[in-house]
Amino acid sequence: MSAVGGWQVAAALPEISQGLHELILGNEVVLLVRRGDEILAMQGLCPHTFARLADGQIDAEGWLHCPRHKARFRLADGACGSGWVLPPLRQYEVRVADGMVLLPDPLTPRN
Ligand code: FES
Repeated sequence: MSAVGGWQVAAALPEISQGLHELILGNEVVLLVRRGDEILAMQGLCPHTFARLADGQIDAEGWLHCPRHKARFRLADGACGSGWVLPPLRQYEVRVADGMVLLPDPLTPRN
């Protein structure tokens, strides 16, 4: 994917349907989450034992549930829910321009 002024193209917006999408950017597995018009980006592997979070589920309260052992992470800030002591999911700023989803280049977490 090409880079433009501190941003890199992660995907074409029409390719990102509602729900969870896994991308590989460099050495990072990134999860894109589309909910309505909002697109979020965060680390794509669970900090517990590295399950692919794109295989997880989002509940109505805005929590992402890991598919392997069911830890949950708040989409708004990546925080881990009660019952687990795990670091928050790294989150990345997202921009949409000219029909493309852009992520920081280099990929630097905002939390
Ligand atoms: S790998 Fe996600 S909770 Fe264990």
